[in-house]
Amino acid sequence: MKAAPDKYLPFAKELALAAGKLLLKMSSNFGGIKYKTNSGNLVTAADKASEKLIVGAICKRYPHHCILAEEGGDSGKENAEFQWLIDPLDGTTNYAHQLPLWSVSIALTYKRKVIIGVVYIPVMNDLYYAVLGKGAFCNNQRIKVSRISDISKSLTVTGIPYSTKEEPKDNFLNFRKFSHAGQAVRRLGSAAIDFCYTAHGKFDGYWERELNPWDVAAGSLILTEAGGRITDFRGNPYQVYSPDETLASNGKIHRPMMRIINSH
Ligand code: IPD
Ligand code: CA
Ligand code: CA
Repeated sequence: MKAAPDKYLPFAKELALAAGKLLLKMSSNFGGIKYKTNSGNLVTAADKASEKLIVGAICKRYPHHCILAEEGGDSGKENAEFQWLIDPLDGTTNYAHQLPLWSVSIALTYKRKVIIGVVYIPVMNDLYYAVLGKGAFCNNQRIKVSRISDISKSLTVTGIPYSTKEEPKDNFLNFRKFSHAGQAVRRLGSAAIDFCYTAHGKFDGYWERELNPWDVAAGSLILTEAGGRITDFRGNPYQVYSPDETLASNGKIHRPMMRIINSH
């Protein structure tokens, strides 16, 4: 890599803030809802407008980079070493119901490794970000994962995949197991926020199945730069480009979490 990854951070932050501002403006009037794979999987004009803003700005500034964005898929220069992974609105269901927990997630990878991650939560005006090897921050303050090592004192978070309507392999058994083992479990509805809140020590652990690269790229870097650990459910190295299983934690409760997920 010719330039230090820091070089791309101000631009990524600007983009997340601009997209967040647009989404806030549209939040009381985002037009009709359309459905993707099923009636639980929504998309609005706001998702598309946010993506158009972000992708347009990247193409103009870095025409030699490629892009993978949730709504429009691949664009930009083919097979470039730099790739932007974009979720223009993470938490569309919350957004459509006027719940404040939604975010914009922007990451940059180099040779398929995440080097920049930015997650903006507009309603809270919280900007989370990380650069590979440089720590994780929220609104310019360094953040760290929690120090809880006793699973019985843990607060964990999860998500329920859209496929739960058709797919027998759902997450409700795990939800029950973690509710019994720890203090409580939450389901917020934005994977990017789940990662940031685990990175910030508000949650001690987070697990979810069937996520996509744009859901996890920025958040996973923020988590590891805050001192957290991320693997699949069996402890294998995490694959940002095929995140079928996500197990993220403060590191201290990682093994107990793995044991719970793999128990029957
Ligand atoms: C969804 C959210 C949710 C997670 C889903 C994601 P979207 O993203 O991150 O928390 O459980 O799996 O697809 O569709 O709102 O961008
Ligand atoms: Ca998403
Ligand atoms: Ca989305």
